[in-house]
Parts: sequence; C-alpha cells; structure tokens
Amino acid sequence: MNPKVESALNEQIQREEYSSRLYLAMAIWCEVNGYPGAAAFLYEHAEEERIHMLKLVHFVNDRGGTAKLMPVDAPPSDFKSLEEVFQKIKKHEEFITESINNLYGITVEEKDYTTGNFLQWYITEQIEEESLFNTILDKIKLVGADKAGMFHIDKELDGMTTGAGAAGEGN
Ligand code: FEO
Repeated sequence: MNPKVESALNEQIQREEYSSRLYLAMAIWCEVNGYPGAAAFLYEHAEEERIHMLKLVHFVNDRGGTAKLMPVDAPPSDFKSLEEVFQKIKKHEEFITESINNLYGITVEEKDYTTGNFLQWYITEQIEEESLFNTILDKIKLVGADKAGMFHIDKELDGMTTGAGAAGEGN
C-alpha cells in the first residue's frame, strides 16, 4: 500500500476512534444530567463511530498495509447544556468532513483510485451526519430554555435510536 495513503488512513482511524470516545463522553453526560433519550442516541452513535474506525482498519489490512492505533486524547466530559453538546458535535463532524476530504485529496495526488473509491462511502456518510446533526441542533435552538420542549426533544432522540447499539439503555 502507498505509504503516504497508509499513514493518512491511520490518522483517520485515530480520528474515528476519538469521535467514538467523544460521543461516549457526551452520552455519559446526558445520562447523568436527565437526558436519557439523548444518552441512548449518543451511546448508539459512539458505536457507529467505532464501526467507521473498524472499516478503515480492515481496509488498510486487506490492502497490504497495517492499521496502527495511536494515542487518543481524553474527550471533554463536562458540558453546559444539551445545546452545547450538539454544537460541539456539529463542529466535530465538520472537522471530520474536512479530514475525509483531505484524505481523498491525498488519494487523488497519489493516484490511489482504489482507496479513493473506498472513501466515497465516508464522503456520503459525512453529508448524512452533518445534515442529521444540523436538524437536531436547530430543534434544540428552537425550544431554547423551555423545559417541556426539551423533554420532547429528548423523547424524539430516543425514538431516533435503532436499538442496534449494544450500549444503549435497555439493550
Ligand atoms: Fe465517523 Fe461521525 O463520522
């Protein structure tokens, strides 16, 4: 495997692993701060990020490279509000989109079209994730400090879980 592409893929593995830990930290905060629906949603999303990481791990290994795990920073554990949680998620997903785009750029420069093709899945996934988190954040902003509204958003987030995540409440 092209060493430059391999190293860039390994960096992405680290970012997806960090994403998983970040959403896990946020799920914990939601769970202990009275947002069980948001917690279930974020526990599940942490699992999804782990799957994003594993897809990259298997791809690197299958293409003759070696996936490497790098140190991952501790994510923040304290947040001011549910709005802050989702604002941070939105910013983080924008950063991930940028890093996927940069990674794709490297595959083009290196003429590694196989990896470029593999990355299409991540490019589409980022469009969906950014759109999903923008929608959630807009709803949270709309209800503002209204407790009843926030209760409904939490319920709605609970309804958005697929129940596939092993770590979600009741699973
Ligand atoms: Fe793996 Fe949320 O992007």
